[in-house]
Amino acid sequence: MNIANRIVTLDEFIIRKESEFPFASGELTGLLRDIGVAAKIVNREVNKAGLVNILGVAGVENSTGDTVQKLDMFANEKLIECLKNSGECCGIASEELEDFIPIPAVATKEAKYVVLFDPLDGSSNIDVNVSVGTIFAIYRRVSDSKGDVTLEDFLQAGTELVAAGYVSYGTSTILVYTTGSGVNGFTLDPSIGEFCLSHRDIKIPARGNYYCVNQGYYLKFDIEMRRYIDYCSDLNLGLRYIGSMVSDIHRILFQGGIFLYPNTRKYPQGKLRLVYECNPIAFIVEQAGGKAIDCQLRRILDQKPTQLHQKSTIAVGSPDMVDEMKAFVERYAAHNLS
Ligand code: AHG
Ligand code: MN
Ligand code: MN
Repeated sequence: MNIANRIVTLDEFIIRKESEFPFASGELTGLLRDIGVAAKIVNREVNKAGLVNILGVAGVENSTGDTVQKLDMFANEKLIECLKNSGECCGIASEELEDFIPIPAVATKEAKYVVLFDPLDGSSNIDVNVSVGTIFAIYRRVSDSKGDVTLEDFLQAGTELVAAGYVSYGTSTILVYTTGSGVNGFTLDPSIGEFCLSHRDIKIPARGNYYCVNQGYYLKFDIEMRRYIDYCSDLNLGLRYIGSMVSDIHRILFQGGIFLYPNTRKYPQGKLRLVYECNPIAFIVEQAGGKAIDCQLRRILDQKPTQLHQKSTIAVGSPDMVDEMKAFVERYAAHNLS
């Protein structure tokens, strides 16, 4: 058999990667594998969402005021369950939970990683069969390993990320992750129930033909953002906006482009959450050669969160397009153009 054509499963890949780090203890490997298992369980439910009575609004709001869908809660519960049983995770924070959850040590083992996640991203799309995703971020705890985790373990800048990834439940289910040495993608083969390496060492194109923003809010954006969007349109760029950040980013990762979620009157700090959405996505995109800044033109990963559910504006994607957006806004502000 030609070795180049041999299937490499996610588990195999993670273990191989571990051997590249001489001091790796295998804990991160175990944690990533457990997240892979949770992703398969969520995938199973997302896939049969149209068949069972799991669709629809559960009737409660999450801590940032969004309506929670039933599948959000299912995904949330499954991820928590898998991570609690993992033995490699000492604390969890989720977009769907008010507060973080400490996980007491199993036997004498002291786990050193905390995991933050958006269990289901793009949940308003569930009922209409549009792709949704899961986003996760992993940090090493900074508090004393003898006690429970503390808030500071979860409020680390994105520069401290150990690993991050997303799962896109689309036409196929793809898990994309990075541990800080490149980005790889794995497609779920439902016939064998395994994520198989399908996109090795993903590199984002320097620019692309699309920009991606909720243009319906155009009049609610600041003037320089409106002018930048006009500029994109002048360049004859196409507009693509799915309304699931994971899906929009997945397209941009492969085809290039820029994703924007600026501040609006309704969301003065932006809508997306720094620790659950912006940081992990920024880490992945940077690892693929792209860039991610906020609308104050600061690198996303440098921002130190002060609250679990803090929001951030974001401009992320192809490096040349993010640079261009930054230069455009700087020039605009400097000359106070109108
Ligand atoms: P979530 O479903 O986790 O709340 O995230 C939805 C997010 C993101 O996926 C998407 O890009 C954005 O909200 C869409 O917001 P608008 O409908 O305001 O454009
Ligand atoms: Mn989300
Ligand atoms: Mn969500």
